[in-house]
Amino acid sequence: MIAEKYAAEIEIILAKYPPDQKRSAVMALLYLAQRDGGYVTKGDMVEISEILGITPTEVASIVGFYTLYHDQPEGVIRIQVCNDLPCALRGADEFLEKLCENLGIQVGETTPDGLVTIEAVMCLAACDKAPMFQVQSADGLSYYEDQTVSSALEVVETLRKQDAS
Ligand code: FES
Repeated sequence: MIAEKYAAEIEIILAKYPPDQKRSAVMALLYLAQRDGGYVTKGDMVEISEILGITPTEVASIVGFYTLYHDQPEGVIRIQVCNDLPCALRGADEFLEKLCENLGIQVGETTPDGLVTIEAVMCLAACDKAPMFQVQSADGLSYYEDQTVSSALEVVETLRKQDAS
C-alpha cells in the first residue's frame, strides 16, 4: 500500500500541484511506487489512480509508454536496446539478436541468474550512434553508444562484477 508506506512523501509531492491539477503528479508517484521493487504493481496503479482522481487505465498507459517504468519484475539490470527505425538502419536489430544469442536469452527475457534483462525500446535520442542502449539499475541510468556485440558483452561482464561485489 503505497499510500501508507509513502504517506509523507506523497503529501510533499501533491503539495507541488494545484488541487485541480494533481493528476500531473502521476510520474512522481509512479517513480515512488517503483523505487523499491523495480516495478509498479497493478495494485500500485489502482492506488495511484485513486489518489489522483484518474482511471487505472490512464495510469497504466503512462507505465506502458515510458521505458523507465515497468509493470513486471525483471532482472536487477535492464539493458534497453533501441531498435527504432534509424537505429535499425545502423544494424540495431542484428546487434540485439546477437547480444541475446550470446546471453542465451530472447528479447524481453532475463538471464537465468536473474541479473540481466534485455529489452527492445523506441528512440533514446542517440539515433546517429547506434547500436546503442541504456542500462537501468539501482545506480540509475547509463548510456552506451556506438556499440558492438563484444563491447556490449564487456559492459555486461562489468555490471556482473559490480553486482557481485
Ligand atoms: S532511433 Fe534509436 S536512438 Fe533514436
